[in-house]
Amino acid sequence: MQPSLQPRGKTRDEIAQAYKSEPWWYDLRGFFILTFAYNSTLGQQLRFFGPNFGSRHLEVACGTGTLLELVLRWRRWKKLPTVHITGIDYAESMLAGAMRRFARQPDIDFQHADAAALPFDAEHFDTANIANSIHCFPDVDGALRDILRVLKPGGTLAANVLLYPRGPWPLRGWAQRINDWGIRKGILYTPYEQADIRARVERAGYEIVGESVSGNCYNMMARRPT
Ligand SMILES: C[S@@+](CC[C@H](N)C(=O)[O-])C[C@H]1O[C@@H](n2cnc3c(N)ncnc32)[C@H](O)[C@@H]1O
Repeated sequence: MQPSLQPRGKTRDEIAQAYKSEPWWYDLRGFFILTFAYNSTLGQQLRFFGPNFGSRHLEVACGTGTLLELVLRWRRWKKLPTVHITGIDYAESMLAGAMRRFARQPDIDFQHADAAALPFDAEHFDTANIANSIHCFPDVDGALRDILRVLKPGGTLAANVLLYPRGPWPLRGWAQRINDWGIRKGILYTPYEQADIRARVERAGYEIVGESVSGNCYNMMARRPT
């Protein structure tokens, strides 16, 4: 698409406003986006994010916690240890949903925060996950830098990044339309080229320790160097 025709990404407050929707609509819409824009499945996401939970974990852009809850069920099923989790999100309506969902769980807390300005001390967390969200951030470089700051040396970040649509028609066309709609609405900032997001992660100071592409997603595991 020519740059002049590309819809414009929105500000963090416009994005937070765009995420204000009924929980049932958010979950239904999320299923369509996952299937037709990301060309991914829930199973892939559980296997990718589930293992990356150290004893102090930061869940960046946790949304209403729908995926986080499924990931934690997957971890229980795999008999993986319980850890302390802090979730942050910039959309207060999303965060309120997550707080309600996990109200009875003392090992999970939430804070309202921009991923690029985290209210935590340096080297506080062992791990961080950014699920389905990095491509929603208006300041992706700032977010990568600040997450690195709050990770302990050797701490790991798992993130999946939406790539520009690939693969055959009509799948590529459907994904393109969903992305254009998402950018206009404000729930997507931009998809990425794999090389671009990779370079940004390395420039922020991480070393990439694992990567794969599935569907239109770049799945990346990065580490703060020791
Ligand atoms: C597609 S949702 C993903 C939510 C959840 N991680 C999941 O997989 O279901 C993207 C989330 O990113 C959040 N977000 C967007 N910009 C943000 C920012 N600058 N800082 C923190 N969260 C942000 C939105 O509010 C929204 O909850």
